[in-house]
Amino acid sequence: MTRIVAISGSLRKHSFNTALVNSAAKMFPDNVRVGTIAGIPPFNEDLEDSEGIPDVVARLKNEIAQADGLLISTPEYNNGVPGVLKNAIDWATRPFRDVPKVFHGKPVAVIGASPGGFGTTLAQTALLPVLRTLKTDPWFAGRLMVSHAGEKIEEGVLQDEETRERLEKFVGGFIEYCGG
Ligand code: FNR
Repeated sequence: MTRIVAISGSLRKHSFNTALVNSAAKMFPDNVRVGTIAGIPPFNEDLEDSEGIPDVVARLKNEIAQADGLLISTPEYNNGVPGVLKNAIDWATRPFRDVPKVFHGKPVAVIGASPGGFGTTLAQTALLPVLRTLKTDPWFAGRLMVSHAGEKIEEGVLQDEETRERLEKFVGGFIEYCGG
């Protein structure tokens, strides 16, 4: 059974991006499991030296390492990747010796939702150098940018049928790529 871990780059209760990963897990309950970046402290090498890897980070690393693929739904902040998401990725690369088992060759798909007209195009693009550096295997066969998300997602629940269909097609294609 192909297993995808899906993480949202937002901590907001009614996050559009969390709504997308939750919907994906509902659509593909056997294949998609939602992971979380909630509770991850700001990265600080002094903290790492004194206390080691936080449990929330160790859990996330394990989930990614054991999954056949990683789905990231990123918000866009100031045309880039939100700090909390980059922070979570940075923690997940610690210690450095674990990077191969967590990220090397890992199929990764990126989606995103925003209330504006471009639906996180720039944030998705801004993740690419990170995915390349970590030697992941980014999946480019599909694209999903959910624009005007406020009209499609209400109180953290995806309501728009056309977006549901696009999400289903995207995630279905990614699952197939990750092993069927
Ligand atoms: C934003 N937002 C935003 N949207 C966008 O499309 N492009 C952008 O550059 C920005 N920049 C930005 C900066 C900051 C600091 C904030 C707080 C917000 C709006 C953003 O897309 C919106 O808040 C989304 O709702 C965030 O995603 P979640 O939390 O709904 O998943």
